[in-house]
Amino acid sequence: MKLATLFTLALAAPSIAIVRFHCSQLVVERLDPLVNPGSVPSSHVHQIVGGDSFNATMDPAKDMPAESTCTSCQFADDFSNYWTAVLYFRAQNGSYKRVPQLGNNQYETAKGGLTIYYMQDAIYDSEQKSKVTAFKQGFRMFTGDIQARTLEEAARFRYLTYTCMDTWTQRSPEMIAFPKRRCKEGIMTTLRFPTCWDGKNLDSPDHISHMSYPETGTFESKGPCPATHPVRMAQVMYEVVWDTKQFNDLEWPADGSSPFVWSFGDATGYGNHADYVFGWKGDALQKILDTSCYFTDPKCTDAKPKLQSIEDMNKCTQKRVVDEDIDGWLDILPGGFQAQYGPVSK
Ligand SMILES: *[C@@H]1O[C@H](CO)[C@@H](O)[C@H](O)[C@H]1NC(C)=O
Ligand SMILES: *[C@@H]1O[C@H](CO)[C@@H](O)[C@H](O)[C@H]1NC(C)=O
Repeated sequence: MKLATLFTLALAAPSIAIVRFHCSQLVVERLDPLVNPGSVPSSHVHQIVGGDSFNATMDPAKDMPAESTCTSCQFADDFSNYWTAVLYFRAQNGSYKRVPQLGNNQYETAKGGLTIYYMQDAIYDSEQKSKVTAFKQGFRMFTGDIQARTLEEAARFRYLTYTCMDTWTQRSPEMIAFPKRRCKEGIMTTLRFPTCWDGKNLDSPDHISHMSYPETGTFESKGPCPATHPVRMAQVMYEVVWDTKQFNDLEWPADGSSPFVWSFGDATGYGNHADYVFGWKGDALQKILDTSCYFTDPKCTDAKPKLQSIEDMNKCTQKRVVDEDIDGWLDILPGGFQAQYGPVSK
C-alpha cells in the first residue's frame, strides 16, 4: 500500500495529476437510492455528501445539477452524491453510540463529510499523460460486500481499508479489519472504487459488475483494463475520518476485539463499502481530468474549476426525512441490527 508515499509525493510535487477535495456532511440518515431505492427508511444508516437533490428515489434521468439548490462539495459544479455506512461504538453494557466524523487534514473547519479523490494518471507520473474518462449522467456504482465478515470475503475487493491514526496526518499502515487498539487521533477509512468500465452500462443489478479492477496490477501501477471493461476511468477514492477519541476513555472489550460496529451490524470491519452517484454539471469533471489538476489548485489551467469556501460547503445540508434517534445511546442499531462478529447467513 503506497498511500503514504503518494501523500508525501503529492505535497512535494504540485504538478502531479490528482484531484482531492472535501465535501461537508449533507445529511446522516437511513436512505439509499442506489441499493434500496424508494425505501424510507432504507436498511441502515448512511452519511451522505454532495448535491441536495439527494433523495430516497433518484431516477438516472434526473438532472442532479438542475434539481439541486446547493452542493456540500468544494467543487461548485459537483452535485454528485457520495456515501458510506456510519460507525457506532459498542459499550461494554451493549449500548451503541454513533461515532461522529471530522473534516480531514487541510479541511479541519469542514463539518464532517468525506474527502474525495479523482486519480487521473497513474499517480507516480508528474503530469497528465494518458486519457482517463469521466463518468456520465446516470452513472452509479458500489464497491465492497456488505455481508463480508471474513478476510477471504473482503479480499475480493481491493483497497477498502482502515488506518489507526496516532497522528492527524498518519496514512499507513492500512488494514482490512477494524483496528483493535485505541487510535489517538481517530480512525480513517479509505475506499477505492474499481477503475475499468464496460463502456455501455451506467449501472448493473449488483451495482458492481459494469465496473472491474485492472486485469493485472492496479490503477496506480498502470495495470491494463480487461477486454470486457476496456474504458479506463478515474480512480474514485474516499477518505473518511471517524472521531473515535471520545471513546478512548471508556471500557473496551476484555477479549481484545474492536468495540466498533458498522451501522449494518458488522463488527469485523470486513463489510466496508461505498456508494457513488455521478452528478457533475456538463463536462466539468472531464475538463478537470484532462489537465494536470493538483488537489484543488485553482490554477487547474484550462479547466478553471469553480470552487466554493468551506463555510459555503457547510451551509449545504438537508433535513432528515427519517424521524428516528440515531445519535443517543441505543439498545439496538437503527434498522434492528446488533453487532455480528462472524459470518452472516446469506
Ligand atoms: C424527495 O422526493 C419527494 C417525493 O418525490 C419530494 O416530495 C421531495 O421534495 C424530494 N426531496 C428533495 C430534497 O428533492
Ligand atoms: C452504557 O454505557 C455507556 C458508556 O459507559 C453509558 O454512557 C450508558 O449510559 C450506558 N447505558 C446503560 C443503559 O446503562
